[in-house]
Amino acid sequence: MNELFSVEDKVILLTGGSGVLGGCMARHLAKERARVVVLDRNAELGEALVAGIKADGGEALFLLSDVLDRETLERNRHDILQIYGRIDVLVNLAGGNQAGATIPPDKTIFDLDVDAFRRVVDLNLFGTVLPTMVFSEVMVGQKKGSIINISSESALRPLTRVVGYGCAKAAVSNFTQYMAGELAVKFGEGLRVNAMAPGFFLTEQNRALMSNPDGTPSARCHTIVAHTPFGRLGRPEELLGTLQWLASDASAFVTGTVIPVDGGFDAFSI
Ligand SMILES: NC(=O)c1ccc[n+]([C@@H]2O[C@H](COP(=O)([O-])OP(=O)(O)OC[C@H]3O[C@@H](n4cnc5c(N)ncnc54)[C@H](O)[C@@H]3O)[C@@H](O)[C@H]2O)c1
Repeated sequence: MNELFSVEDKVILLTGGSGVLGGCMARHLAKERARVVVLDRNAELGEALVAGIKADGGEALFLLSDVLDRETLERNRHDILQIYGRIDVLVNLAGGNQAGATIPPDKTIFDLDVDAFRRVVDLNLFGTVLPTMVFSEVMVGQKKGSIINISSESALRPLTRVVGYGCAKAAVSNFTQYMAGELAVKFGEGLRVNAMAPGFFLTEQNRALMSNPDGTPSARCHTIVAHTPFGRLGRPEELLGTLQWLASDASAFVTGTVIPVDGGFDAFSI
């Protein structure tokens, strides 16, 4: 194994780890001999994921969590420290869009469900802020740790319809940069905060926008693919290289960045 990119023995937390992207990351990191902690409110998927990782010889733990509840997160932190004694990497994946917070083509901003908008901002922004506060305290004590937030293409340039999600993810990118300065200046250069901005991957949180009820790709999905130089959606495993780089010491001088992993979507105009 390449030492530079090693995550061996690192205690790596994934909020939203039961999901499609988080599950793919958890399986990969365990194969790379990290100690993976899946934090999610979906216990059924999370327990199944961890059982699968263990069956393959990896090390993983599922803890029921809620990224919007500080007490639960603090209980999670206590349990993790009891078992592993440290936290090396936090990947803030819990997030996603909700149907009510989007504006369909036949509606306008004046029809917006503000409560749904607020719930999406809550989940994506405060669901990143709270775990960061709870778990980075441990990293500060260690003088070392890497936080990887999950922003989105919609943060880089607004996409049609997903107004709440785009605003929330733009705030996640801003918070990433803020925290990079906050932690390094006040607590030292061992503490790093970066984000990935994935392009378009078919998962549960965007299925309603990306697929028709019969499962075929929606018109929106075709538009996205047409605007992507690679001419296709992403595959979850295509996030793994960037993830491992940011989690490992290979990125030791990298902080405050938001890395698009998008088949060229963000760079492309006409
Ligand atoms: N799929 C994409 O194309 C895409 C693109 C850019 C960014 N993202 C982001 O990637 C991340 C992972 O999403 P995904 O696509 O794997 O979706 P997913 O729906 O498969 O996974 C999201 C996970 O978050 C968990 N979750 C939701 N609310 C929670 C809470 N309050 N506490 C704890 N866990 C909670 C869910 O149970 C689920 O397991 C999200 O932040 C999403 O916004 C996805």
